[in-house]
Amino acid sequence: MTTRRLVLSRGAAIVGAASTGLLLPGIVRAQSSRIRVGFMLPYTGTYSQLGVAIENGVRMAIAEQGGKLGGREIEWFKLDDESEPSKGVENANRLVQRDKVDVLIGTVHSGVQMGIQRVARETGVLNLIPNAGAHAATRALCAPNVFRTSFTNSQPTLALGKPMMDRGLKKTVWITWKYAAGDEAFEGFRDSYTKAGGTIVKELGLPFPNVEFQALLTEIASLRPDAVACFFAGGAAAKFIRDYAAAGLKDKIPLWGSGFLTEGVLEAAGPAAEGIMTTMHYADSLDTPRNHQFRTAYATQFKMQPDVYAVQGYDTGLLLAQGAAAVKGDMGNKQALYHALETQTIDSPRGKWSMSKAHNPIQDIYLRRVENKDNKVIGIAAKALSDSGAGCKLGAA
Ligand code: PHB
Repeated sequence: MTTRRLVLSRGAAIVGAASTGLLLPGIVRAQSSRIRVGFMLPYTGTYSQLGVAIENGVRMAIAEQGGKLGGREIEWFKLDDESEPSKGVENANRLVQRDKVDVLIGTVHSGVQMGIQRVARETGVLNLIPNAGAHAATRALCAPNVFRTSFTNSQPTLALGKPMMDRGLKKTVWITWKYAAGDEAFEGFRDSYTKAGGTIVKELGLPFPNVEFQALLTEIASLRPDAVACFFAGGAAAKFIRDYAAAGLKDKIPLWGSGFLTEGVLEAAGPAAEGIMTTMHYADSLDTPRNHQFRTAYATQFKMQPDVYAVQGYDTGLLLAQGAAAVKGDMGNKQALYHALETQTIDSPRGKWSMSKAHNPIQDIYLRRVENKDNKVIGIAAKALSDSGAGCKLGAA
């Protein structure tokens, strides 16, 4: 009976063995010796290219480390979260309860991350966040088993206000999608810009992932600010950049933003993107051997240029590989694993970074300008910037 099941399906054999009380130690051991890694990322919608870049980056980093985690083979799982917050909990539970992943890598959208966060806190599954910047994930709802390799939503924009004021841009209109990522990016902008003496003339918004920018661009034209600052990302960012130029604003009112505006979209946006100024924890043109090596390897392997999302995925892969190596693949040794993840230095294409006590990168923020379809570094806008981690008790003495 058992033999027949084995021939039919290894998975069914294990289920059968468990339910009948039979032991198949060899098979069970073989199965459990693989580390189960689940991607929960957007593979459709305006953030689909972000999900792909992140997965590419993770796989590339782990392949470079020999393709294993702490000496163990990997079994991969993949789920499209559609950037749909209402399905966040259900989707995360699918990976954790049904697929029994040891590690959940996700996600991009802050609203969906709140679902993952709940499941991670309830089940204790290891969650590595390769993008979503929701403040709560590494502030009030931080957790020992949740680590972020990207940013908090206000980290890039905390470096945006001063360089704008340094250039005499004293009155600004802010525009974004109205959800956590845009609202929290605004917080960083508001704090840095008003501290530097700037005035925010108006806040404009539209629901995610709406791309009907026309009426808002008309309003901007009539407000005549010194500059516009924004948060947009993914496919829609290219459309915003093109619509901004088509509305005749490009040469009249300089466009600034959280650097996601110009990530992965410079081909699609074309000349309309030239001159846009942004702040971000990465820049294509970072002139370091590490970045050159990464960019060449990624472009060769995937036949496309890497962006900040690819870097964040890559760093997620590095963190996971380094953490797993430190515990020799014993992912069940949670105390040692978390300690290892907390204390790694990540030798990233963005520059070396380490984890804050709340499990968010402490990192430099660069000022960039789009030149010839490239995010050119102008300088460092903030050195070793850490998120406040307000309300997170991890690492407290
Ligand atoms: C987010 O929802 O947290 C988010 C999404 C896309 C980005 C940045 C942040 O580029």
